[in-house]
This record gives sequence, C-alpha cells and structure tokens, in this order.
Amino acid sequence: MLNYNNPSLTLISSEVRPGAVRWRSPSNIALVKYWGKHGVQLPRNPSVSFTLDGAATDTTLSYSVREAPGEGVEVALYLDGELNKGFTDRTQIFMEKLLPIYPFLKQLSFKIKTSNSFPHSAGIASSASGMSALALCLVSLEEELFEPFKDRAEFNAKASYLARLGSGSACRSIYGGAAVWGTLASLKSSSDEFAVPVTESLHRVFQDYHDDILLISKSEKSVSSRAGHGLMEGNPYASARYAQATRRTDEMLTVLREGNIERFGEILESEALTLHALMMSSHPPYVLIRPNTLAVIERIHQYRADTGMPLYFTLDAGPNLHLLYPNSVAAEVKQFIREQLLYFCEDKMYLADRVGKGPERLEVSEQDLAS
Ligand code: PMV
Repeated sequence: MLNYNNPSLTLISSEVRPGAVRWRSPSNIALVKYWGKHGVQLPRNPSVSFTLDGAATDTTLSYSVREAPGEGVEVALYLDGELNKGFTDRTQIFMEKLLPIYPFLKQLSFKIKTSNSFPHSAGIASSASGMSALALCLVSLEEELFEPFKDRAEFNAKASYLARLGSGSACRSIYGGAAVWGTLASLKSSSDEFAVPVTESLHRVFQDYHDDILLISKSEKSVSSRAGHGLMEGNPYASARYAQATRRTDEMLTVLREGNIERFGEILESEALTLHALMMSSHPPYVLIRPNTLAVIERIHQYRADTGMPLYFTLDAGPNLHLLYPNSVAAEVKQFIREQLLYFCEDKMYLADRVGKGPERLEVSEQDLAS
C-alpha cells in the first residue's frame, strides 16, 4: 500500500505569500466499467477509459494564510461565479480527509473558482473532471510550497491517488488518451490506488476517436453512483461480474493496441448493458435508462445492420448515451445523429466530444492572484 501521509508538510505561516494554481481537467468515459468498491475507495475490478477533450472542468485554487488557524479546512467554492453551499461542503469534507497527507491544508484559507465546459443541468456527471482538476491543483500547490516532484509520472500518480479519494473514476482523468485503474496481472504498473496511462499503446484509429453524448434526460439520477456501488455488495452476480471485468479490461487493452474496432464495439456495448443489468439485479432493483435510451439503442443496431458503419454506444450510470466511432466515418454518423437520433434527446441536445490529450495547467489571472 502506498503511504502519502506526511506530518512534516507544514508551513511557516509568516513566509507564505498568497497565490493561486489553475488546472483544466477533462471527464472520461469508461470502456470497461468500475462498478463496486471496498475499503477507502478501492475498486472491486479494473477498468479502462478514454479521456475526453471538450467536457472539462476549469478550477482555480487560491490560497492565503489563515487568519485564525482552526481544526478543519477553511474553503469556499464558487461554481460559475456563485458561492455553492453543496459543493463547498463536499470539498471541505474531501480536503479534510487529506489532512494526514497534507497537514498544511488547515494553515491556509482557500477560495476555489470552478466552471464546467458543459451546461450545468446537462445531466452529465462533473465529478470526474471536477475532482481531477482539484486534485491536480492540490499537487501543484504542494510543489509550489514544498519540493518539486522527481518527474511527471510521480506528480501524476499522486494527483490520480488524490482524485480517487474524491471520486473513484476521477483518477483516470489525469492522463490523456486512455487510462487503466485497478490491478491487472498483465500491466505491471497498474494499481488499485491510482490510474496509469495506456496512451502509448493506443492504436492510431483510437487516438482521435469520437464520443458524442446524447442527452436523453437532464434530470438528476434517482440513485447516486455511491448508492449503486454499495448495492453491488449484495448483488448475486457480483463475483462473476468482477471476474468478467478483469478479463475484459485485459482484452480491451489488446483491442486498443491492435485497433480492432469491431471487437471494441462488442465489448463496449456489452459493458453498458451489463452495468445496467447489475442495477436491475440489485436489491432493491432500479432502472436508470429511459424509454428513449432503448429507442436510440434500437436505431443504432438497425443503422449498423443497414450500413455496416462501426458506430457503437456506451452508457454511464444514467440514461444518456455515448456514441463512439472513428474519425473516418464522422460525417455520415453526425448526419445520422442529426436526422434520426436528436428527436429522442431532451431539448434535442447532444455534445460532440472526442478522445483528448488530458489535463492542462493554465495561467492564473491577475485578479485571482490578488484575491
Ligand atoms: O466514480 P464514481 O463513483 O462516480 O463511479 C463511476 C462509475 C461509472 O461511471 C458507472 C463507471 C466508470 O468506471 O466510470
């Protein structure tokens, strides 16, 4: 087990000048799903994802010395310029969990400004992009106040570890291309505690793969991911599922290396349906897909049968569909989406996205440095 706990990371308050760090971090879409956890945010099975490009969170973490040092962490979070009580509370709980790793967090006062590139009410989870952006800010802050990391890989592993503590799947957003989270015998660097990149071995066809997100419903989910993971503990299919996901992550890595888009699509769609079948076979059972989710799935299957186009879907823990396809068929697929699928989307909305290069550190504005 990794141990990042470090009681010596404390500051001499009189020496600290106010400052800020800023990161933009993307969301990711799991190809093989993480569903079920144990211990401190540890996955029951390995998973692999594509990191997205457009769907991202831009976070600025400003800090100054705390006037009256107290026990917890002092933080205020502004979403799109407005103080957000719910996110402030969640962030405070997260940062307080990090105190054994970063004891200096209670010596400072934090202001976090965050915004998402996708509409707030789009029904897209922002936890992967949001938590990874915040984790990257915290590791950059550590570098600014203490020592630089030996190399980028160490920096990323720590950011991924911290992101995981905030929201499991967020740990995969630290890397561009594709990332694996969870121990896999065939991937020596893999770990349950942080994700690792598998970008180097990504076949050319996947490097600019498209992922268009069809917004079937923008409503909040009736059962959270946290509750869903919990219900896996009593699921009668759990152990078979964990073994299947391990085999599939392994196979998906071969597929990603070799560029086999048919097998890619087969695993992708089965993963989506298996995830939702697990929800339906939990106790109590629940259903997050909507009639329009199924209508779109039928049309995709028909379109594939009629045209032979390599268009496949996946689902997150919700009703919205991710449509994955290679760049070579983008014009035809986009026409199909516009003409036949948008009808099933709430407000006829979809977000065009693709595989991205990973998080980016951004310049802090003068205003953020001063505040
Ligand atoms: O990271 P969480 O706890 O929100 O769980 C995410 C689970 C799925 O999105 C359904 C699958 C995954 O691997 O991202």
